[in-house]
Amino acid sequence: MDKILVIDFGGQYSQLIARRIRNQNVYAEIKNFDQISIEETAEAGYKGIVFSGGPRSVYDDDAPRVDEKITQLNIPILGICYGHQLLTYLTHGEIDTALTKSEYGKTSVSVSDSGLFKEIPEESICWMSHTDQVKKLPLGFVCIARSEKCPYAAVADEKRKLYGVQFHPEVSHTEYGNQIIRNFLFEICNCKPNWRMEDFLDRSVRKYREELKGKKVILGLSGGVDSMVCAVLLNQAIGKELICVMIDHGLFRKGEAEEVEKVFKSQFDIRLERVNAKERFLHSLKGVTDPEEKRKIIGTEFIRAFEAKAEELQDTDILAQGTIYPDVIESGKGSSAKIKSHHNVGGLPENMMFSQIVEPLRDLFKDEVRELGKRLGIPDQLIYRQPFPGPGLAVRIIGEVNEEKLAILKEADSIFAEEIAKAGCDRITSQYFAVLTDTRSVGVKGDFRTYGYTVALRAVSTDDFMTAEWVKIPYEVLQETSRRITNEVKGVGRVVYDITSKPPATIEWE
Ligand code: XMP
Repeated sequence: MDKILVIDFGGQYSQLIARRIRNQNVYAEIKNFDQISIEETAEAGYKGIVFSGGPRSVYDDDAPRVDEKITQLNIPILGICYGHQLLTYLTHGEIDTALTKSEYGKTSVSVSDSGLFKEIPEESICWMSHTDQVKKLPLGFVCIARSEKCPYAAVADEKRKLYGVQFHPEVSHTEYGNQIIRNFLFEICNCKPNWRMEDFLDRSVRKYREELKGKKVILGLSGGVDSMVCAVLLNQAIGKELICVMIDHGLFRKGEAEEVEKVFKSQFDIRLERVNAKERFLHSLKGVTDPEEKRKIIGTEFIRAFEAKAEELQDTDILAQGTIYPDVIESGKGSSAKIKSHHNVGGLPENMMFSQIVEPLRDLFKDEVRELGKRLGIPDQLIYRQPFPGPGLAVRIIGEVNEEKLAILKEADSIFAEEIAKAGCDRITSQYFAVLTDTRSVGVKGDFRTYGYTVALRAVSTDDFMTAEWVKIPYEVLQETSRRITNEVKGVGRVVYDITSKPPATIEWE
């Protein structure tokens, strides 16, 4: 299989570059600049290398760099933004770091004849975001694109197949970005488009059938897409030797655990053990109001329940996990500030006693996992379901979690989901849910005074869940949701709509 190496120099778009490449059916893998060894890179059989962007200046003492020998491996290179400047630096050109004005946003760029710009008009819009820029070309390079402010918007040494672009072909604002990526892959690197989900599926099923023959495998099922796809794939490979365990902490949305169980048992005939641990979780959460403490308790309880079940199933000593590629990349990176302790099934502790861990999805991006899920025949409503946090509804109940509050939230949340779907708003929202606040307020029903909880509704749109915009749900939908919740859900006195984006707020309330 042909593959491309994307070297990450700290840019925000490295994953996007890899996804754009994979969308062209060419496998791309990301490595951090400090993980690059020239010998390994030479031997790995890459058909091309992409240098990502990054926020630094190439002359900074601690600028992220790679050994200049990488340009002598006879592997085509495409440098993007910082990567373009770094390529120039490594091949002994010069960078202008004295400019005080950045070039930012949609910019008209004119290109000249080059394999990189095949089938691209002379003038088009590209996305720029830089302050430094190339000042003097290295020997052997020519200029192949310019903008008003950037004389070397793209450069090339066609003979050595080294290319640099100051703009970002990977972002959708660059009109012909995909064509530039296609040109690099197919005209310059001579890649074959042989990264396809159907092949991946066949290969994986064959591989795990052989590798896991006669062994029992346990998989923790969270109800999320990744572990579900992982389960169905492994089930195709080893059938009943796979035992899926769903720890039912009682914190799922209304009907969610039942739906997964139904699909697994009736459609796929997968062996699924649902562990009813609701009492145990609620007991541990009793009286706890601090969000971080709640998350930690749930994480610990989850592990305990899973361990107990694994022990009961005795002869399982292989653990399968639905780890996906962004998890792999992120865990290999430096630490960023901790906002919340995330909990998911992939987060089981290292000291658990398993002789082997299998992670069939560790090379896939989320959209690829979904495509694979479709190929495996998992229904759309499960594949395209919105993300749901590992600690479940507990982080959507402010203050103590108890049975009464859980019941209220499940009902309110399901009404909101129904109304959103009825109005077709699920197409414009990435995630929508209800939150049960710990604020109670006075109201009136008939002739009686009420003192009920306030439910907050939240709906956001986002590409990456790192930032998010609140969605302008039509008033009529909010009105009907509010009417129904206050009428149908006992204990709710007021409904409000959350109009905060992320940042400064996070998507979940806790
Ligand atoms: P925040 O609240 O941090 O959420 O803006 C970003 C996205 O992550 C989901 N989320 C979690 N997912 N385990 C998960 O698997 C967790 O502990 C967790 N906490 C938040 C959240 O629903 C949103 O999609």
